This record gives sequence, structure tokens and C-alpha cells, in this order.
Amino acid sequence: MAHIFLTGATSGIGKALCLQLLKDGHTVFGTGRSKEKLHALEEEAPGDFHPILMDLASFSSIKDALKTHEKTLSQIEILINNAGATSAKKIITEDGNEMQLQVNHLAVVYLTHWFYPLLKTNQGMVITTSSDAHRRTKFSKKALYDQTPYKIFKRYQETKLYNLMFMYYCDRVLGRDPVRFYAVHPGLVKTDLGAKNASWLVDKVWKLFSAPGQDPEGPVPTYLKLINERPSEYVYYAYERPNHHLPVVEEEEKQTLLMTHACEHLSISTFGVRE
Ligand SMILES: NC(=O)c1ccc[n+]([C@@H]2O[C@H](COP(=O)([O-])OP(=O)(O)OC[C@H]3O[C@@H](n4cnc5c(N)ncnc54)[C@H](OP(=O)(O)O)[C@@H]3O)[C@@H](O)[C@H]2O)c1
Repeated sequence: MAHIFLTGATSGIGKALCLQLLKDGHTVFGTGRSKEKLHALEEEAPGDFHPILMDLASFSSIKDALKTHEKTLSQIEILINNAGATSAKKIITEDGNEMQLQVNHLAVVYLTHWFYPLLKTNQGMVITTSSDAHRRTKFSKKALYDQTPYKIFKRYQETKLYNLMFMYYCDRVLGRDPVRFYAVHPGLVKTDLGAKNASWLVDKVWKLFSAPGQDPEGPVPTYLKLINERPSEYVYYAYERPNHHLPVVEEEEKQTLLMTHACEHLSISTFGVRE
């Protein structure tokens, strides 16, 4: 049984995954930004659950939580970067970043960087929830540096592209041993993702769009497959099978640009090496 760190455990896909992992006997350190939701999850959790309060839109919140729990987190073998957010209006975080960029991408890079030395020792893995929404965008340096007009869905698609490029970068640069890197497309899932920070119109569009989607439990078997089987050939999975991605995902020059931007914003001098 594994020790798993799962972000966004308080709703949607993350909650369904958290409950299944606990039922399967894993120890789960689940993060949330709401004390109340974490408490409710703790009450419902069937096994060894450790709630961690962490707002991914705040680097000080992330760093404080990691420091507070540092000792117990030393056993983590699997990091699941699942949390994600959208916003109808452009929100700038206390760290000066556009919110979707920070929550969906920069926080993922930071957590992966922080956990990497432990995952190396524990021969672990990283799974990041991306999306086939990445296919509907292009990689652009201007967008990465937030120099293009803000559009909710475009921004979301870009951050999901960054998730995928980041996992492929790690797979290429850090290698497949002892740590494996995966990305998951969960499919269309009926959650409140698009209804949070939403305008009336965005809320309506999301509800109509996601209505034919699966229940949050739908994508759970794909995560379990990666955890239980540790498949060795592919990085990107959906519906328990390898999945296709845009060619740009594996372009080394663009991956390097992505990582230069992230390391600048996170003050990381060598990715994967904690100072
Ligand atoms: N639903 C889909 O059709 C779909 C499709 C493709 C990919 N995805 C991806 O799947 C992942 C999970 O999304 P979901 O659909 O399950 O949505 P969800 O129900 O809204 O869950 C998102 C999770 O992220 C957490 N979160 C959001 N902002 C945060 C912040 N600032 N700090 C800490 N936690 C934060 C949420 O916390 P709260 O509970 O407090 O809101 C929640 O636990 C995301 O990465 C999303 O991009 C979803």
C-alpha cells in the first residue's frame, strides 16, 4: 500500500479518487483550500486520511503547509497533481500571477520539484491531471508570459497543455527510473469545475457542456491502473489506455521555454533539487 499526496481532494474527480484510494488501503494526504470541506471529507473518509490545508493560489500557503507536514510527508511515494481551477474574470494572485496559470501549472511544478527528492528515494511516481482540452490551443511564449488577452477557456486549455508538456519534460530529462511521470485525461466529467468563479453565462455553458459527462468516479480506474501497474511505455493516459497528444508537447525547445518561465517564477535554480 502506498503513501499518496493528492491535491484537490475536496471535490469532483479528486474526492472520488481519494475515497477509492482509501478503500483500497492506501494512506492519503489530501489537500484542500477549505477547512470545512476538508473536515467533511475527514468525517466521510473510510481509511487512513490526512487532511492538508493548502491554497494553491498562494505560494506562502503551499510552503507553510509543506513545512508543517514535512516529517510525515517523507514517506510519500505518489504525488497526484489533480487540483484545477477556472475563472470567468482574470484574477491576479497575491504572488502576482494569473490565477489559472498559478493553480493549474506553477503550483504543479513547485510541488513536483519539492517532492522529487523523496520520490527518488521512495521509487515513486507523479500523476498530473491534464486534459484533451490541450488540443484546442497552441503553445505561445506571449500567452505563457500572460501578454495575451484573458479568455477563460483559452487560458484553461493553455494550462492543461503546460501540464502535459511538463510531464513529458520530466520523463525526458529526469528519466523513467526511479520516478515515473504520467498525465491523465479524465474525459468529460460532471463536476463543478466550470461553475466556480463563474459568471452567470459561464455557469450555464459549463452545465450544458458537462451534462453528458461521466460521474466523478468515471476516470478513477485510469489512475488506479497507473498506480497498480506502473506501465512503462507511455506518459499520457485516458480511459485506461495510452492517449494521443499534440506534437508540440514533446518539442524540446518549447519544453525548455516552459521550464525557464516556471523556474524564474518559482525561484528554482535546479529543478528537482531542493535548496
Ligand atoms: N471535469 C472535467 O470534465 C475535466 C476534464 C478534463 C480535466 N479535468 C481536470 O480534472 C481536475 C479536477 O477537476 P474537477 O473537474 O474534479 O473539478 P472540481 O470538482 O472543481 O475539483 C477541483 C479541485 O481543485 C481544488 N482547487 C481549486 N482551486 C484551488 C486552490 N486555489 N487551492 C487549492 N485547491 C484548489 C478544488 O477545491 P474546492 O473543493 O475548494 O473547490 C477541488 O478540490 C482539474 O485539474 C481539471 O482541470 C476535469
